[in-house]
Amino acid sequence: MECGRTLSPVNVAYETYGSLNREGTNAILVCHALTGDAHAAGLTDIPSAVWSDTPPQPANPGALRPGWWDGAIGPGRAFDTEKYFVLCSNFLGSCYGTTGPASINPATGRPYRTGFPQMSVRDMVRVQRALLDHLGVHRLVTISGGSLGGMQALEWAIMYPDLVASVVPIATAARHSAWGIGLNEAARMAIVNDPDWREGFYTVQPARGLALARIIAMISYRSMSSFGHRFGRDLQGPTDPATPEQTFKVQSYLAYQGRKLVERFDAAAYVYITKAMDLHDVTTRRGTLKEVLGEIRVPALCLGISSDVLYPAQEQRELASLIPDARYAEIQSPHGHDAFLIEFDQLNRIVPEFLNSIPAS
Ligand code: COA
Repeated sequence: MECGRTLSPVNVAYETYGSLNREGTNAILVCHALTGDAHAAGLTDIPSAVWSDTPPQPANPGALRPGWWDGAIGPGRAFDTEKYFVLCSNFLGSCYGTTGPASINPATGRPYRTGFPQMSVRDMVRVQRALLDHLGVHRLVTISGGSLGGMQALEWAIMYPDLVASVVPIATAARHSAWGIGLNEAARMAIVNDPDWREGFYTVQPARGLALARIIAMISYRSMSSFGHRFGRDLQGPTDPATPEQTFKVQSYLAYQGRKLVERFDAAAYVYITKAMDLHDVTTRRGTLKEVLGEIRVPALCLGISSDVLYPAQEQRELASLIPDARYAEIQSPHGHDAFLIEFDQLNRIVPEFLNSIPAS
């Protein structure tokens, strides 16, 4: 690993959609963001819950969950499974089947927790590369993802230029901004200051801290106007202003989102992944930003989101200006950063226009 430590064994959970051609040259890798998983498309009965070796049994048989990019992967969609072999893997350090802090450390028989080596985005990409070798993929038509997914796409273009034909980084960063690091630090502080954290060797999730971390993040994923339109000053529950239980709708929404993450995500994985995002900097041990991005030889489609306050559109424009064969396009949306998980019609229009200029195999 980049940190100098060795990690073994490493499991990788992945899903694929469409068919790989005989030459192994029609693949597309989609990379998930912070709390995502390998289930990018279609429906699964595997519940969204922390796991490391074998997928958890459906708690609620018959309950099917769509993939996080289901609206963008499939016949006629942005990543067309009639043409391409689309794959998505849970990245190193996460908690959905790929080895991470919640996995059992073979040396101790207990979860790694904070004994896990700090992985980097480059380590995640190296694990993906090993998966591709295992699957017989010799060329990636493109690599795409939003946020941390886009960071992986950029590293791919730099680390393995011979395997990559193009990249589509969305709402991301070539190096994590002070703004992004600050928000991640607030989230980590919420987790590690929860008494249940116990220096990372918890036996029950530090639920209050993890929920607060999610709430901080959820605010940054939207925008002032989207919260305004959606919730305004609406109340949920009792409407008598004298009643102490009176809650604004936005409070209820955020509390719900916090609880939901606690049920499905591991606190130590959250700490490690946010740290990996903060450490992400394509220039590390390589050169200046201009030099490093200037050496990306493949075509790039850099996608910004008009209302993103976390990875602003301006940051994506700068990225496009420094990659020689890059074009910039913008998703028009009031939904903020989360628009890359919502605005499928726009993705399905913009991405194929670009991919049609890249040989499909
Ligand atoms: N009180 C309590 N719960 C509420 C609520 C309120 N006032 N308003 C909505 N909800 C609940 C809904 O019941 C629904 O619950 P469910 O998920 O159990 O079905 C949930 O909130 C819907 O969330 P919402 O944000 O409204 O969904 P959306 O359709 O606007 O957005 C996603 C879809 C996928 C973007 C969003 O659900 C999500 O997961 N956002 C975070 C994704 C993320 O991690 N982004 C960061 C990438 S770096």
